[in-house]
Amino acid sequence: MDSSENKLYTITDCKLMTFGKHHRPNGNLTVVAGGEDVQFDIRRVYYIYDVPSGEDRGGHAHKNLQQLIIAVSGSFDVVIDDGSSRKTITLNRPYCGLLLRPGIWRELNNFSSGAVTLVLASDLFTEDDYIRDYKEFLAIKGLL
Ligand code: TYD
Repeated sequence: MDSSENKLYTITDCKLMTFGKHHRPNGNLTVVAGGEDVQFDIRRVYYIYDVPSGEDRGGHAHKNLQQLIIAVSGSFDVVIDDGSSRKTITLNRPYCGLLLRPGIWRELNNFSSGAVTLVLASDLFTEDDYIRDYKEFLAIKGLL
C-alpha cells in the first residue's frame, strides 16, 4: 500500500463484520479465512487477555497494518478515530469482528472480566508501523 493511502481512510471504512456460526448441540464454531472472510491475508495472530478492571489498551494508529478485532470472550469497547470523527463500537459476540484500516486511531477500554481480544493482522510486528503520538497522527492525516 502506498504510505499516503492511510490518510484517506475514515471511520466509515472500519466495518463491523458478521461471520458464519456453525451451531451444533456440542458448541459453536466460527471461521475467519484470510482473503475470503476478511479482505487481507492474515500474517499474524495475537490475543490480549487478563486485562485488569479499568485498564485501557491501544492508544495508537498504524501506518499500513490492517486488523480484524474480535471479542472471542467477554466484551470491550473500541473507540475509532480518523482525526475528524470518533465513534465507539462495543464488541461482545465471538462471531463479529471490527475491521480496522490503516490510519485509524484506536483505543480499547471497558473490558469485562475474562475478556479475550483476538487480533488478526495483515503483517508481522514492526514498531515502525505504529503512530503512538496523537499529534503526529493528526499531522500524518494532514489535519494539523
Ligand atoms: P501494543 O500493540 O502497544 O499493545 P496494545 O495496542 O494492545 O495496547 O503492544 C504492546 C507491547 O507488545 C509493545 O511493547 C509491543 C509488543 N508487541 C510485540 O512485540 N509483538 C506484537 O505482535 C504486538 C502486537 C505487540
